[in-house]
Parts: sequence; structure tokens; C-alpha cells
Amino acid sequence: MGAKEQDPAELAARWGRGQHVRFEERFGGTVGVLSAADSAAVVSLQGAQVLSYVPRDGREALWMSPTPRLGTGKAVRGGIPVCWPWFGPHTNDARKPAHGFVRANPWEIVAAAGDDTGATLRLAFDATRIETALWPHQAVAEIEITLGTALRVKLTTENTGQTPFALTEALHTYLAIGDIAAVAIEGLAGCPYIDQLQPGRGLFQQHGMLAVAEEVDRIYQDCTMAVSVTDAVLARRITLTKEGSRSTVVWNPWVEKSRRLGDMGENGYRRMVCIEAANAGSDVVTLAPGARHHLVSEISVTDL
Ligand code: BG6
Repeated sequence: MGAKEQDPAELAARWGRGQHVRFEERFGGTVGVLSAADSAAVVSLQGAQVLSYVPRDGREALWMSPTPRLGTGKAVRGGIPVCWPWFGPHTNDARKPAHGFVRANPWEIVAAAGDDTGATLRLAFDATRIETALWPHQAVAEIEITLGTALRVKLTTENTGQTPFALTEALHTYLAIGDIAAVAIEGLAGCPYIDQLQPGRGLFQQHGMLAVAEEVDRIYQDCTMAVSVTDAVLARRITLTKEGSRSTVVWNPWVEKSRRLGDMGENGYRRMVCIEAANAGSDVVTLAPGARHHLVSEISVTDL
């Protein structure tokens, strides 16, 4: 994608929708800014990644690293990175990038709309432009971000090739919280999970709500329910409702891993928890030629 396709003025001329869809430079890259229904969202063209969601109450709902930088060839840590067409490390080649190849690459805008009640931006990534050594299949990914009384993110995968392929994916949502010690995560009870910190140990079972007091990295399987994060410090509840998602990932890097990551900021792990609508682990999606799959995550915020 050339500089012209990334130029905010060029984008505004084609896709701007008054005050509802605007384009600007932020964090060294181009972003779309959606405003409607007394809410706002920021979406970067790199990775089709939501960087910010401020609902009606005026408080940021998504956590962001203190030093976000676009265009470095790396994903920005925070907001909602898109993990596609594989989640986590590649299953048989550790040299391939973790969480797939779309989060650090530019996407192309394909639709925009907005009025006082809602605003939408749609971006596409044509994976046929990726070298076959990295991924040998033919597919198009599309992200549709809709801002209204909630934030809805829809990831569509279309198999445009002649052979079926296996897909794992996630909308890797970093939620902003007051303090990790004061949140209760509900909606996972009864689900089996893979503990990524205890590889090879099989499936564990979630009983009741989840409180995080150490590093957590779990893939809940066969788990389609909505998840809520009740935050006593910020006196709000964030609810994540899913469609087309059989897995929910919960991640907090805690102290040691935060040090290794280097971009979490001082005590950043206390102010975030990732709750990810996903198809991962053994919840693999197989897509036939011509078939489409949708993964949807909707975030809504209510006062306690
Ligand atoms: C989570 C994974 O979804 O993403 C973790 O479950 C991983 O294992 C984390 O560490 C962050 O990944 P990355 O590649 O953005 O550092």
C-alpha cells in the first residue's frame, strides 16, 4: 500500500463522513476516528486495530501501552489487535510471527458510514498478497467496526481459493480496568480450558468466577457465553458478547512477563486484562472454498 492510500486528506476525501468518520495522523500512523451516539472510537489502518473506545460515560474502555508506535513492523500493544489466520505461535513453524501476519500490516478501507446514531468503518486485508511460504492459502479478511450504544467488531474470513483451510483467530481485546485486584470475571463457569502456562497438562475446568492474582494465560474451549468484567474501582461493568466464537482467551502477563515484554509500562498489568473472542486451541474453524466465517465481539459498558 502506497503513501497516498495512507494520507489522511486523501482518505477524508473518499471515506470521510462529516464529524462521524474522520482521518488523522496519530502514533506515527493513520487512524480513522469514529464519533456517534456520544461515543468515539479510534481505528488504525495498520492491523485494522481499534486503539480506543470511549463510550457515553466518557471513560476509556480499552487499555493501551504508554508508548504506542505505528509503522514499526510490530503490533501495537493495546486496544484490539486482530490475530489472524492463526492464534498464538504457528503450530509447526516457530519462525512465523505469533498471532498471524495481519496485525503489523496495512489494511485497506472498503466502506464508511455515519450519522448521529452510529458510525461504521470497514477494512479489508487480501491475504493473496502474502508470500505462499508464510501462508499458502487464498483468503480475504474483513474487519467491520460499528460504533453505536456499544462497540461491535466483526471479523469476516472468506476462502477465495480452491482448497479448504484451517483457521484460528482472535479479537485480542485489552480491557482497561481500575485495578486487577478488584475485578471479577464472569461467564466462564463450567468451561474447560487449556492453561498455556502448564503445557501438556490437558484441560482444566473453570468453577465460578475468575479473579486474577498471578500470571494468567488460558484458552477457554467450547465457550460461547458473554463474559463480564465487574470493576469495583471504576464502578463499571464491561460486557463482551460474542458470535461465531467457541473460545475465550483470558490473559494477564503479571510482573515477570511484563518485564520481558518491555512495552507494558510501569504496573501496566494492573490496569488491563485481555478477554478475547476467539477460535483457538482445539476450536479450529475449517473453511471450504467459497465459504465465509464471522467472528464478532461486542463491548458494552454499564455503571455499577
Ligand atoms: C495472548 C496469548 O492472547 O497474547 C499469550 O494467550 C500471549 O500467550 C499474548 O503472550 C501476547 O502476545 P503478543 O504476541 O502480543 O506479545
